[in-house]
Amino acid sequence: MPLSPAKPLLIEARKKKYAIPAFNVNNLEILKAVMAAAVKEKSPIILQTSEGAIHYAGMEYLIAMIRVAANSPIPVVMHLDHGKDLPLIKRAIESGYTSVMFDGSSLPYDENVAKTKHVVEWARKHAVSVEAEIGALKGMEDLVDVKAKDAALTNPDEAARFAQETDCDSLAIAIGTAHGAFKFKGKTHLDIERLEKISKLVDLPLVLHGASGVLEDVLALAEHHGAKLGKARGVLDEDITEAIKHGIAKINIDTDLRLAFTAGIREAVADMPKVIDPRELLAPASHLITEVAVRKIKMFGSMNRA
Ligand code: G3H
Ligand code: 13P
Ligand code: ZN
Repeated sequence: MPLSPAKPLLIEARKKKYAIPAFNVNNLEILKAVMAAAVKEKSPIILQTSEGAIHYAGMEYLIAMIRVAANSPIPVVMHLDHGKDLPLIKRAIESGYTSVMFDGSSLPYDENVAKTKHVVEWARKHAVSVEAEIGALKGMEDLVDVKAKDAALTNPDEAARFAQETDCDSLAIAIGTAHGAFKFKGKTHLDIERLEKISKLVDLPLVLHGASGVLEDVLALAEHHGAKLGKARGVLDEDITEAIKHGIAKINIDTDLRLAFTAGIREAVADMPKVIDPRELLAPASHLITEVAVRKIKMFGSMNRA
């Protein structure tokens, strides 16, 4: 199958109340591992590369690998995650990405609107979908009072105006998640009430960034083999389920893959002290990523939707 644009897949997901997994990929092992999960579960998949991934692996290498991945029976989207650099976004659009994010969330409102509109204009010429963002990704515990929450998290009325003014295809919102493995100090719920309000006013597929759960068993495996991640905390499964009921149609996962990969490597190195073939050391780590990706697909309800 050729690479799919994100828009129709995400509209369908929002309508039917499931979410498409958007997995960050940086190398062949991660890419093949998440693809194995999506093919097994017959789930559409978004393979996303951050600007950091592009600096690490090179855009051409990533594109070549993702094009090969698309020769499969499931819809595959090639997406640029957190695009901030306009020339890089333009290059991605012209090089075959089928979806790009413009992340103007740290810009003043008017500048975010103007730059997002610019990207939408370029993208339309190439039938590429555009994700935009409004609101700051700050974990709930950093937002101690109502005022702080309102200042950082997505304002529903502003989101509605932003979606209308920019004509973006999907909208990333802030409801209390944060990137990385240290999202909260304890168990914390997301601002689902805010999401409900946004969802009533914005009829677009909504995107949840910073959605990793920091899975307890994977964390325990990493720590057993020497990782020091004591205060790592992720998003609760029940909040993901609630979020999907209220318009979240794309869920971004990077940290859970990183944890699985590195926990698997730590275990393989410890268990096979005589092995020097990287392929043997990386194989169990790749299997662990596939296992984690299958769990995500089942939680997001995207299995058998391909
Ligand atoms: O949003 C952040 C993603 O996890 C990508 O991270 O910029 O380190 O590749 P990265
Ligand atoms: P996590 O760090 O929670 O995996 O979030 C990833 C993300 O939002 C990528 O854009
Ligand atoms: Zn993100």
